[in-house]
Amino acid sequence: MLVVVHEDYDALSKKGAEIIASRMRQKPNLVLGLATGSTPLGLYRELIRLYKNDGLDFSKIVTFNLDEYIGVPPEHDQSYHYFMRHNLFDHINVNPSHVYIPQGMYGDIKISSFETNPKIEQFCTWYEDEIKRHGGVDIQILGIGGNGHIAFNEPGSSLGSRTRIKTLTQKTVKDNSRFFKSAEEVPRYAITMGVGTIMEAKELLLLATGDGKADAVKSAVEGPITAMCPASALQLHRRAIVMTDKAAAAKLSAEFITYG
Ligand code: F6R
Repeated sequence: MLVVVHEDYDALSKKGAEIIASRMRQKPNLVLGLATGSTPLGLYRELIRLYKNDGLDFSKIVTFNLDEYIGVPPEHDQSYHYFMRHNLFDHINVNPSHVYIPQGMYGDIKISSFETNPKIEQFCTWYEDEIKRHGGVDIQILGIGGNGHIAFNEPGSSLGSRTRIKTLTQKTVKDNSRFFKSAEEVPRYAITMGVGTIMEAKELLLLATGDGKADAVKSAVEGPITAMCPASALQLHRRAIVMTDKAAAAKLSAEFITYG
């Protein structure tokens, strides 16, 4: 695991975009794993700039997103479909038929925490098969939750898990409620790639910024490998880069760090 600490968010975003751009130049039909959330926004802005100013070509790449809420329509401004269009896809020349984001809508089927729905299970299997059909993810961009989660794999998620339905924690449901008009609209479930799915990507690029991530970064990099910190699984990956700003690296032991 390579841990690189950058001066600030801008430097980290630029370097992250440079890595993705260089992989795209080496392999124009790169299979790129994407994340949502606030952390990769700077990297996406930089990729858009490289497309507009430097002719970076997205026409042959294939993208797979990590996760999506269940029951939130793609046109809703809180869906990850909307997020990706708004923050990246609408501004680059990606081929829409090369874009994969987990499906969040399944009609009016009832979901409970105790039974999974065959339609959703079928979708999850299909998503995993599509990743395989494209030869696997070449490089996966990841953020990290303050509790060490990656994608929607909250603490306690099996490190071998595959794409599946996850019940959101009460805290996540409560935190999300401010983004929705009514309590009924707040998603209770999500589809997420599993830790095992993520670990099969050929390369991982985890980004972390701000002091709110310092404990999670320390546990991920230096802590024991444990389902209680799903990001700690990255220690077992042969090509994982953890890129942070100074604040997110504040709790790391100095000997692990490279400065970018
Ligand atoms: C989103 C995702 C999440 C976020 C994480 C950090 O696709 O996979 O695991 O990466 O919650 O979110 P931010 O970047 O908003 O701090």
